[in-house]
Parts: sequence; C-alpha cells; structure tokens
Amino acid sequence: MNILITGGLGFIGGHFLTRIKDNNSYDKIIVFDKMTYASNYKRLKNIFEKKNFLLVKGDIASKSDVRQVFHAHKPNIVINFAAESHVDNSINKPDLFLDVNTKGTLNLLIEAKKLWVNKKNVLKEFYKKSIFYQISTDEVFGSLSKRNSFDEKSPYSPNSPYSASKAGADHFVRAFHKTYNLPTIITYCSNNFGPYQNVEKLIPKIISCIKQNKDIPIYSDGSNIRDWIYVEDHCKAISLILEKGKPGKEYCIGGSNEMSNLEICKLILEIIDTLIPCKNNNKYMDKIKFVKDRKGHDFRYSLKTSKIFYDHKIFQNSSFKENLKFTVAHFLNLKLKTL
Ligand SMILES: NC(=O)c1ccc[n+]([C@@H]2O[C@H](COP(=O)([O-])OP(=O)(O)OC[C@H]3O[C@@H](n4cnc5c(N)ncnc54)[C@H](O)[C@@H]3O)[C@@H](O)[C@H]2O)c1
Repeated sequence: MNILITGGLGFIGGHFLTRIKDNNSYDKIIVFDKMTYASNYKRLKNIFEKKNFLLVKGDIASKSDVRQVFHAHKPNIVINFAAESHVDNSINKPDLFLDVNTKGTLNLLIEAKKLWVNKKNVLKEFYKKSIFYQISTDEVFGSLSKRNSFDEKSPYSPNSPYSASKAGADHFVRAFHKTYNLPTIITYCSNNFGPYQNVEKLIPKIISCIKQNKDIPIYSDGSNIRDWIYVEDHCKAISLILEKGKPGKEYCIGGSNEMSNLEICKLILEIIDTLIPCKNNNKYMDKIKFVKDRKGHDFRYSLKTSKIFYDHKIFQNSSFKENLKFTVAHFLNLKLKTL
C-alpha cells in the first residue's frame, strides 16, 4: 500500500505525518507539497530519514507534476490536505485559490481515476481498497445565526473565495464518485488549533502580537463565533475514517467548543498571564484593538459531529483548555511539565 499525502508539510498535514510516522502498514508514504510559505519542512525533516517516507516537491495545480507523482508511485490512497488555506489571502487572490484548491483537486481526481478505475468504471483488483480522501471545511456551508448546526446533509453556501474554492473541489470529488465510481470520502472539519499553525491564523497571531508587544487586531466587535478543535483530534478522526469510513460518504468533525473571537482572545491572554505575568500594572487585555470587519465575514460556524466519531470515542481524553494551554506554551517556547 502506497499513500500519497498532499500538503503534508502544512499545519494539519504535518500533525498527521507525525501521527503515522511509526505506522508500518504503508510501504511508501509520499508527501507531495509545493513548499509554499505555509509549509514547515524543518519541523518534519527527521520523518524523511525513515526509509518509507519520501518528499516530492510539486504543485497540485500542475497537471504534469500530478501525473508524474502518480506514475512514479502508484498510490492506493490519496489524502488531499494541499490548499491555499487563509481566507484573508483569498480575498486578494481568488484566482490562486481556484487554481490550487479546485483545479488542483481535479488534477488529483483525474490521475486517481486513470490509475484505479477501468474503462467500465469498475475498480481494478489492486485498487479495491483505494480511497481518495478530501480534507474539507465547515466553511463550505456558509454562515449560521446563533441557532442550529450544520451536518453532512447541509446545503453548500460558501461566502468567501476560499470556501467557494473548497466547495468547488468537493463538488468534483462527489461527481467523480457518482460518475466514475471513484471511492471518495469528504470530511468537513471546524477551526483547528495547535502547535506549528501558521502565524497568519487567529490563535498564533494573538500570541505573536503579545510576544512582539503589538496590538491584537480583532475583526469588528469580536462577536463572530468559531468552533475550535485540537489538531490532533482532527488527525485521530482522519485515521478512523481511513479505517472505517464508507466510500461515497461525507463526515463532519466538530470540536464542540464554540467561542466568539473575543472570548477565545481573552482566554488566551488569561493563559499567557498565568505563564508570563504582565509587568508594571499593564494588562494584556489592553492590547485588543477592534479593526474593520473582514469582507463577507461569516458570523458563526457550528458542526454536528458525525456519530461514527462518538461511537469510537475519538475525542474522549481531549480537554480544550489543556490543549489550548499547551498550544500557547508552544508558541511562547515554554515547556509545560504537567502536559
Ligand atoms: N486549518 C484549519 O482550521 C482547517 C479547518 C478545516 C479544513 N482545513 C483544510 O485542511 C487542509 C490543511 O489545512 P492547513 O491549515 O494545514 O493548511 P496550511 O496552509 O497550514 O498548509 C497547506 C500545505 O499545502 C501546501 N500547498 C499549498 N499549495 C500547494 C500546491 N499548489 N501544491 C502542493 N502543495 C501545496 C503548502 O505548502 C502547505 O504545506 C486544507 O485543505 C484546509 O482547507 C483546515
């Protein structure tokens, strides 16, 4: 079994690689990554000393790069983490997001279909257990008011160029299952947090501002609500779906930790204050500065986590506050003895 992991040098992909580094069920683990500003090779370079791990620098938006990696390594499983992932960047460069997130996914689907499915749309014997696993986001469903939650059957209603490009990718994934019988799975996950996230994202940005003694920019009045999940819980859920998920299905992975941006910011500042108390009667809270709202800013995301994850007790031992404290300590370069 060979597994192709696109975007494996990014935040979530990197945690997934760390999770499977000692798993010997794959003959080859091919990490295919363009190594953009969002990748972190240094953090993961030891993994590539293992003989079954291989790094291929390439672009999912390039048909020839994708063709070559499929031709050379004939993967049985594909997990597509690769994406331009920052909503703010998508507002300035929507075409990049279309090229990478939507067309890049289509390039991967085309090569997987060529390799796995015969002319009668039947899976070839060697690829009977193959899965094309698309890592999607709750943002494809759009925005919620204070009530209700999204589930796998919710209609798509993306509001940002990022979520539109991810929605477009998901539609192609679904279409390849329906049209060519490609064994696909899509999971929708809520906002991830954890060590090694890029500083452009909310939680590392708050901590980085404190480290640099800068103001913390919070959109509008900070009332927008996100559902936060620890990145390792997301990765556990991905492993479970790889093992137990059904081709052609979609699953929701929520964190059950809904907080407004202002609430999570205050919580982080309280944690920092316990680790490095603010000096000279100053308050970290004074660093919060409300700034002009993001265009098309979704008010609230909320997911009903699929039953399969509760059945397998995926989130059982994970404490949001402990994980957040560990994450804050990581970005402050502190080691917490208790964790
Ligand atoms: N971070 C979240 O909160 C979150 C939540 C739900 C879903 N997701 C999805 O999870 C996936 C991973 O997110 P992340 O936060 O780890 O992203 P990230 O930005 O940290 O990492 C993306 C990785 O993809 C690589 N990449 C970018 N463009 C590429 C291209 N054209 N070809 C090959 N590789 C390319 C980058 O080099 C990087 O290593 C994305 O698909 C994202 O949409 C993220």
